[in-house]
Order: sequence, then structure tokens, then C-alpha cells
Amino acid sequence: MEKMWAGRFGKELDREADDFNSSIHFDSRMYRQDIRGSVSHAEMLAKQGIISAEDCALIKEGLLGILADLEEGKLSFDPAAEDIHMFVESVLTKRIGDVGKRLHTARSRNDQVAVDVRLYLRDEAGEICVLVKELISAVLEQAEANKDTICPGYTHLQRAQPISFGHHLLCYCMMLIRDIGRIEDSVKRMNLCPLGSCALAGTTYNTDRQYTAAALGFDGYTLNSIDGVSDRDFCLELMSAFSILMMHLSRFSEEIIFWSSWECKFIELDDSYTTGSSIMPQKKNPDMAELVRGKTGRVYGNLMALLTTLKGLPLAYNKDMQEDKEAVFDSIDTVKKCLRVFAPMVRTMRVLKDNMYAAAQKGFINATDLADYLVKKGMPFRTAYKLVGQAVAYCIENGTVLDNLSLDTLKGFSELFEEDVYGEISLESCVSKRISAGGTGPDSVAAQIAYVKEFLK
Ligand code: ARG
Repeated sequence: MEKMWAGRFGKELDREADDFNSSIHFDSRMYRQDIRGSVSHAEMLAKQGIISAEDCALIKEGLLGILADLEEGKLSFDPAAEDIHMFVESVLTKRIGDVGKRLHTARSRNDQVAVDVRLYLRDEAGEICVLVKELISAVLEQAEANKDTICPGYTHLQRAQPISFGHHLLCYCMMLIRDIGRIEDSVKRMNLCPLGSCALAGTTYNTDRQYTAAALGFDGYTLNSIDGVSDRDFCLELMSAFSILMMHLSRFSEEIIFWSSWECKFIELDDSYTTGSSIMPQKKNPDMAELVRGKTGRVYGNLMALLTTLKGLPLAYNKDMQEDKEAVFDSIDTVKKCLRVFAPMVRTMRVLKDNMYAAAQKGFINATDLADYLVKKGMPFRTAYKLVGQAVAYCIENGTVLDNLSLDTLKGFSELFEEDVYGEISLESCVSKRISAGGTGPDSVAAQIAYVKEFLK
């Protein structure tokens, strides 16, 4: 295909170099946004008297024809076109002749690509938020079903205090709600239109940037033309938000993997979200969770790659910036795939309540409550804490647990112990007594469920 700029050149571009330079194999996915941007640009040119109304009508018809043909598979991307912008423009010119050559008045590919990417990311960000909401609702379902399920809560992966499994799951809802907030926040900053910045300096034509910005659904236009074409912060912000989201999914995956292990067996994943082994007939592996954990590295990597690409770039546009798209597109694809398997995996997992309860009975996780019991009877917390530590040591030596110590033995540690101690340190009461706001007690869990439900509305 003859290059748009052939006029200035004495020779054709080397084939390897041409291939190296080309981005159509990954930026063609923005064809809708590219055409949409061009339609608004043509309308603006006509409104401002820069092109005639007849030419604008022809251009629009041509562009919409290209869009329809691409959608219907009647037209395919030409790998010889350098990028999606060149492709659309050259097909348009082939179809409507010289009028097509007027479209690029008062525009550059530099502002064109900037507007396409923003439009594309805005749509994808919206889709991803919907998927995150689906995951939140799957987690919420499990949390509600398990609000009274008692399991050990951990610190340092050591059994720490008994909690409601629902409370544990609701923690992930809180993280995911923040993730949506971060994505929406980055879209807010992204939603300014760079179109009209042109190559870098603006244009001599009397354009109306507010018109194209509004037509394309932006909140306004970028105020500095150099910034308009050189800024990729919006890619980075979104990729940071995705990285944090993936970090959350990865922590969740890690727990799901741990919970599914024979060492733990708190849950069983559904057959549809696990795999077997090619050699060990007994195996049922949590591959989906492991892959999500693994793909987190890839999403971080994309962020690091683009940050590194941008760090030394002088203003304004440099071809290095073409590297933005594969990174951000890969992150989008990866995050979507992860969310699509994660939500149903969580929704269908079976919670093995008895195993959780049995685990909660071991590990002295009611020791804090035993100390609190003495505090309520007047003992200073530090004294009670030390005394219970001694009682735990005694239990370990004698192969028993706090609940099984006789009242006589307990009285040996402190005269404050009475018969009511056993009720006070039962797992059920350890959980239900945690009445502080945001704690694992039933009122707090109910409040959290209500909050998440309200968010999902
Ligand atoms: N394919 C290019 C990109 O993705 C489009 C902008 C090209 N601009 C230029 N001056 N070469 O960044």
C-alpha cells in the first residue's frame, strides 16, 4: 500500500521496518471509537464552515458504511495499513474519492489516537465495573449464607480469634467496592477530550473543541494541546487500579487455595472450576484461583512496562507511546477473564462449616476472651493477659484446651473464675460478644451486608 506521506520520500519503507512500525494488529480493536471520533470531527468541521455540509454528509455516510461493513465482516483490516487511523481514512478515500481527503483537516493522528484510546478505555472500564459488581454480589451471597458460620480468624496464618466466615468474606466486598471507586475516579480524570490538540500545537482553523468534546460524551476538553497528545496518565491510572484489583483477587485466590487444601479443607470448589491431574487420579486442583494469582504478575508487569516506557519521553508525541495500547489492552483482557471465572467460582464453592468449626476449637482462639472475662471481673488487662498465657501453657503441657479445664484448675490461676466462664468462652459467644462497630458480631455483620446491598443497588 502506498504510504500517505510518499510525496516526501524517495524510497519505500523496508518491509521489516514497516512491519515493526505497524500497530494495526492491535489497534484495530478501536475501530468503533476511531470512526465515532471521525464522525464528530467531520460534523464540527462542517458546523464551523471548514468543510461543506455536502462533503460532511458524504464523509459521514462513508464512515458509517465502513463501520457497518466491519461489523458484518464484509470488510477486513488490511495488515499493510500502518494503524487503524490510516486504515479507516484510506478506505474512506477509496470509497468516496477526494472528499475523503478533507477529513484530516485540523487533526493529527496524535490527537486522534489519544481520543480513541480514551473512548475505548472509558467503555471497557464501565464493563469491568459491572463484572466487579457481579463478583461482589457472589461474595455477598456467600457472606449472607455464612453470617453465622464460625471459623478461625488468622494473623500470621496462626489461628487468632474466632470470627464469622461471613465477616471474613465481607472484607473482600469492601476491597472490591474500593476498586470500583478507583476505576470510576480514573475515568473521571480521563474523560476530557484531546481532539483538536492536533499534532501538538493546535491549529490555525477556527475549530470548536467544546462541540466535539460534548458530541463524544466528554465532560470537557484538555486545556493544553501538548498535554492533550502526550498524556498517558489515564492509561497508567487505570492500570494501577487494575493492579490493585488483581492484588485483591490474588489474596482471595491464595485463601481459596489454602481453604481447599487437605491441610485445611474449609471449602470445596465446584467441579466446574477445578481440574484433575494427568497422573494422580485423586487430584482436584484449584487451577482457576492459581491462574488468577499468577496473572496478577502480568497486570503489574503491564503497568511497570508503560511507566518505564513513558519515563524518559520528551514532549510531545513520540512513537514509543504506541506501546501504551498492548499493555493496557492486555490488562483489560486479563482482568475481564479473571473476573468472569472468579465470580461463579465463589458463587458455587461449598463451605464446609463443620471443618471450620472444628478448626476454630483448636488453637486457643478464645484466649483473648478468657482474659476479657477476668478484666470484666475487675482485673487489669495486662495481668489477665499474662495469667491466661500461663493457662495456655498449662493446657499445652497437659494436652487439653481452655474450655476443658475444671473450675478448680481455673481457680488455681485466679479466684475470679466462676461457673459462667464456660459460656463466656464458647466460640458462639466469642463471636456474638464482639459488639464493636465493624467487628465480627452479628449486628456489625448485618450492617455490612446492608451496606454492600445498598452499594449494589
Ligand atoms: N499508531 C500510533 C500510536 O498508536 C498513532 C499515532 C501516530 N502518530 C505519529 N505521529 N506517528 O501511537
